Amino acid sequence: MSEGAKYSPGLDGVVAGETAVACVDQGQLLYRGYPIEELAERSTFEEVAYLLLFGDLPNVGQLAGIRQRLDDYRVLPSAVIDTIRRIPSDVAMMDVLKTGVSMTGHFDPTVKADTNDALRDRALWLTAQISGIIAARYRLLNGKEPREPKEGLSHAAQFLYQSQGVEPDAISTRLLDLTLVLYAEHEFNASTFTARVICSTLSDLVSAVVGAIGALKGPLHGGANEEAMEMLRQFKTADEARAWIADALANKKKVMGFGHRVYKNGDHRAKILEQELRKLAASKGQNVWMEIYDAIKGPMVNDKKIFPNVDYPCGLTYFLMGMPLDLYTPLFVASRVTGWSAHFIEQRVNNRIYRPLSIYTGHPLRKVVPIQNRG
Ligand code: CMC
Repeated sequence: MSEGAKYSPGLDGVVAGETAVACVDQGQLLYRGYPIEELAERSTFEEVAYLLLFGDLPNVGQLAGIRQRLDDYRVLPSAVIDTIRRIPSDVAMMDVLKTGVSMTGHFDPTVKADTNDALRDRALWLTAQISGIIAARYRLLNGKEPREPKEGLSHAAQFLYQSQGVEPDAISTRLLDLTLVLYAEHEFNASTFTARVICSTLSDLVSAVVGAIGALKGPLHGGANEEAMEMLRQFKTADEARAWIADALANKKKVMGFGHRVYKNGDHRAKILEQELRKLAASKGQNVWMEIYDAIKGPMVNDKKIFPNVDYPCGLTYFLMGMPLDLYTPLFVASRVTGWSAHFIEQRVNNRIYRPLSIYTGHPLRKVVPIQNRG
């Protein structure tokens, strides 16, 4: 490491680049300048995808255009379905998704160019394909054939239709759409940074998305929505949850779905989703789940001052929507691919290869002993 360089584990506090895609400004998350609260209330996932990729919210014609483009790109190549079919049934959905995206990359139908327009179109193709890959794998695991997409559905409704095989109800569609809006972008998080590092070598978008999926999969990042629900579903009552959290805190256990590197006073996305979750639980007569949820949240917030992140309410929201657990992190990917792609384009436009330094902690200088003289 050169003299004067500072080391910060986990790059905590280190500025690693510039971005116009999103920021967390005094605890408020903005996508291209728009507060996440307003986007969550007034826009759909497709509008947010357009915003991230093109830089501004779409008008009616532009929205219709992006929805049509997604529809144009939904059908999976048969080789992709065959590959997914052959993967052993106990392989995790995130690993199948990684392979599925890599495989479909060999059938990229978009214009072979790296202009911003071509990259945006490729991002839309990947967005459509990823949702189809998750739905196809889900159906195959349930002994059913993948379902052909249906033109004209929103991205959220399309996923529910292709995975469940029936036209989804308005509440499920709106809730899934909301989670996709909240998950779409979050500046220099681990998976986005991974995508930008891959881009910085002048590699391609599919490689960046496959790498980013690998980064998102971990329980400290996107995998936390599944882990949080795994934790909650071991309890039948709030008392059981209270006993568990007391023990977890006493033993300094990490509680999934809590804490954040950049939000130290709470994640806005969690607050937005929690409101909807409470309504959902009440409408389904499932208030016991909110009691369990609050039994964990109370001591985390009051005693530890560690707040829920978006993955905590998201896990339970998907659960109460009847979604199988191993779809939760893939659905994060189904949304975040838009943010990753926006960052990829930005990195490509103003690129310098990422090449940080390290502190060497290994053996001091030594001589290579000829092999016959080694003990
Ligand atoms: N449960 C218990 N203690 C925690 C938690 C938690 N979830 N999060 C942080 N802490 C403690 C941590 O142990 C440390 O304590 P001490 O100073 O005594 O060692 C202190 O709080 C500071 O935390 P940190 O580890 O320095 O925080 P970080 O910025 O390095 O890590 C994090 C951030 C999100 C990885 C971490 O909070 C965590 O592991 N949370 C659980 C996993 C999770 O929910 N991830 C989702 C992140 S948000 C959305 C997404 O990316 O999917």
